[in-house]
Amino acid sequence: MSRRIVAAGNWKMNKTPAEARELIAELTPLVKSDEKDVIFCVPAIDIVPALEAADGTNIKIGAQNMYFEESGAYTGEISPQMLTDVGVEYVILGHSERRGYFHETNEDINRKALKAFEHGITPIICCGESLEQREQGITIDWIRQQIKVAFQNVSAEDASKAIVAYEPIWAIGTGKTATTEQAQEVCGAIRALIKELYGDSVAEEIRILYGGSVNAKTAPDLFAQPDIDGGLVGGASLKAEFGDIVKA
Ligand code: 13P
Repeated sequence: MSRRIVAAGNWKMNKTPAEARELIAELTPLVKSDEKDVIFCVPAIDIVPALEAADGTNIKIGAQNMYFEESGAYTGEISPQMLTDVGVEYVILGHSERRGYFHETNEDINRKALKAFEHGITPIICCGESLEQREQGITIDWIRQQIKVAFQNVSAEDASKAIVAYEPIWAIGTGKTATTEQAQEVCGAIRALIKELYGDSVAEEIRILYGGSVNAKTAPDLFAQPDIDGGLVGGASLKAEFGDIVKA
């Protein structure tokens, strides 16, 4: 079994196109790696300049969202072909901020995931529980439901290429990282569910990330867990510290 580690940055709504070029130039020497996938998921308007700035480096550029229709009257949305046309290979889907602020449902995320696969884009499918749900003891049930719906009608071949990110909402941007035990428990439960749905080989191949206040200190232990194949990093992906996370 040899899953490639993923170090993905989620820039969220940060950095103008000019700042994106600068940050990529600054981080390029720090995130060099032959054995890991390094992905920067940038705001839509930064995608093209980021691709140009990352040309010839090991950095891949991803989007933070995508719509599930091919084209048409959907003001403000971005289609899969717009992403593939410029060379985007990854898209974050169902981030908790999109679920929370923009009311995205598990069903929306499923439609987007199916569309992404249809266009050969690898979705980074996010899931995660609130603090209230964790305290109620329903974390695993909640995550299983999110993942089950997100993967509805996704073929085994596509599922094996997907990336799932477990991001407990209470750990996002709070400086409060989940313990390695908490993160491994949920990532292990996600892999077990994928095994139930698709069998052993898909469960062995799919990559599962942890996200939520990952920093250079917490990354080494988290990434050493058997079911954690890397991280989806917010705040720390905008700094030189991301280089240390990639090395973790
Ligand atoms: P932080 O690393 O800033 O907590 O954000 C995590 C996240 O939401 C990544 O998608």
